[in-house]
Amino acid sequence: MPISLETHLFSIASITISPDRQRSGEIVTTDLEHSISTNGLINPIIVSRDGTLIAGERRLTACKRLGLDQIAVRFFDELSPDEAQIIELEENVRRKDLNWRDEIRAIARIHEIHKTMDSGWNRNKSAAKLGISPEYMSQYLRVHRELDSPKLAGATSLSSAYNILSRADQRKNADILSDVLESVKGTFDKIGQGGGQDKVNDDKSDEDKKFDSNPGPGSTSTSSPPPPKPAPQESLLNLSFFDWTETYSGPTFNFIHCDFPYGVNVFGGTMAGGQTAGDYNDSPDVYFALIEHFCKNLDVFASQSAHVLFWFAMEHYTKTIEMFQELAPDLVIQKYPIVWFKSDNTGIVPDTRRQPRRVYETALIMSRGDRFIVKPVANTYAAPVDKTYHPSTKPEPMLRHFFQLFVDDTTTLFDPTCGGGSALRAAESMHAKRVLGLEQDPEHFKNAQSALRSFRALRGA
Ligand SMILES: C[S@@+](CC[C@H](N)C(=O)[O-])C[C@H]1O[C@@H](n2cnc3c(N)ncnc32)[C@H](O)[C@@H]1O
Repeated sequence: MPISLETHLFSIASITISPDRQRSGEIVTTDLEHSISTNGLINPIIVSRDGTLIAGERRLTACKRLGLDQIAVRFFDELSPDEAQIIELEENVRRKDLNWRDEIRAIARIHEIHKTMDSGWNRNKSAAKLGISPEYMSQYLRVHRELDSPKLAGATSLSSAYNILSRADQRKNADILSDVLESVKGTFDKIGQGGGQDKVNDDKSDEDKKFDSNPGPGSTSTSSPPPPKPAPQESLLNLSFFDWTETYSGPTFNFIHCDFPYGVNVFGGTMAGGQTAGDYNDSPDVYFALIEHFCKNLDVFASQSAHVLFWFAMEHYTKTIEMFQELAPDLVIQKYPIVWFKSDNTGIVPDTRRQPRRVYETALIMSRGDRFIVKPVANTYAAPVDKTYHPSTKPEPMLRHFFQLFVDDTTTLFDPTCGGGSALRAAESMHAKRVLGLEQDPEHFKNAQSALRSFRALRGA
């Protein structure tokens, strides 16, 4: 249908406003009255043939307040389909009960239709037409591009959706910058070393290589020479963190989950004798040596933009903070730790005459390069203790809760002392891009390996 630009003069007294038109608050028309009395009404209002108002209540109110008898109108049935759709959408946007997702869809559609009707149209014009700021208009259009993405499944409003996306954008840009810096550094290192062969850790059985490597789609069995395979990406290694840093030269990680032995002789000092299966050395010496090694080798495994979640015992709080501040000053430590409340009330009572039972554990959040989180979640979580795969397991449900802060499909997780591997499983269940855990104890390593295998088989991965 051709666009009819015909306008008609209509008696203001004959125009009716349907009761279902919902308006929030009093309509302010001072500026509009001034403009109409100076320049006349530039945009006619829209009415049906019987005089029911379809669009332009503010303009109608301003004309009434100016004491005019007649107003320029266009009849709804004379509009082009695009114009009619815009008007319907604008009416929808004004409805108070419209849900935020539908509002975004309507606003984006209005903008699109205007662009198809007018090649010079832009988002500022849409913003002005809809009476919103250009900044808001940009937010609507940004969120609209990913409105159906799983990333926004938990969003509750335009601003929460926009915040999720802008944090993700910041993280992605930080990762790109980090990769660039690393590759530049790698090039200089190779020049400095006069060549450069990637060091590959090949300490594994063939079966483990099969399990760990990620051949990717499109593998072929024809007789033509196979394309060069990417280096296998291990998920679990039966190695000590101290040894691994000597040889690792692969990509760094943007999320480090760190659950060292707490250094509190949790097994009652049994490492000196009477050790039972599953116990590991939990002396302060081991704990502090691990922190020192962590800080001194940060560049080996941590991206320039990275988060660290570091579990610790209050006994060593002060010295732990001091060591990080001194040895890894580019890690910014958040003041408030996260808290896991052991909901089955298990925990030690160090002094039955003076102290309560300790039924919570704490972890520090640290970041390198002011990395943004994925999503803010509560800093405490209640979950029972679970010793299925390891005597000091951090339960997966609890990790999944806190990992909402750090893990999305761009996450690469490293756990230098992964025990039964719960952090690896939690991160994979949240679609992390890559996970790598080290465990020096062969028994714990085997448990972690079989748990990860079963978990992947269940997920069909
Ligand atoms: C607190 S536990 C980790 C528990 C783990 N987060 C879980 O949920 O199963 C610490 C683990 O670190 C391991 N470990 C200690 N020193 C290590 C080292 N130098 N390299 C790798 N693993 C180490 C211990 O064998 C123990 O299993």
